[in-house]
Amino acid sequence: MSDKTIFVLNGPNLNLLGLREPEIYGSQTLDDIAGMLEDHAQTLGLDIDMRQSNHEGHLVDWLHEAQAVGAKAVLLNAGAYTHTSVALHDAIKGIRTPVIEVHLSNPHTREAFRHKSYVGMAAKGTIAGFGARSYILALDAAAAL
Ligand code: DQA
Repeated sequence: MSDKTIFVLNGPNLNLLGLREPEIYGSQTLDDIAGMLEDHAQTLGLDIDMRQSNHEGHLVDWLHEAQAVGAKAVLLNAGAYTHTSVALHDAIKGIRTPVIEVHLSNPHTREAFRHKSYVGMAAKGTIAGFGARSYILALDAAAAL
């Protein structure tokens, strides 16, 4: 673990990617995305630490861990916690490690309850709406920090 490591944290229901509403989220699984990210990270001289949890507190703990181990940045797709979690907002504010918000879909074109992002209000920036490619674009953004 080093300043070359990018944490990629995924929240609830993202373990179901590939099966879950493929018309919105695409047919690639989270493992497929991890593979794409690892290949791309290699070309950038970076390492990926990719994780997923359906539990809010795990995501909070991993944000703290990212800072504790000196990760370069965090890519965070907090799933539905994006729109509800003051705890994630506070965790992002509480660490110096830059956090980039990522979404497969563009929440602003969807239901009104997805228009508010507690993550986005604390994050360095947001990349959303490009399907699995959102993660690659976010990794490029992290590499450039
Ligand atoms: C999502 C968008 C969220 O609104 C939703 O709850 C998800 C996935 C995305 O990647 O598009 O679980 O974060």
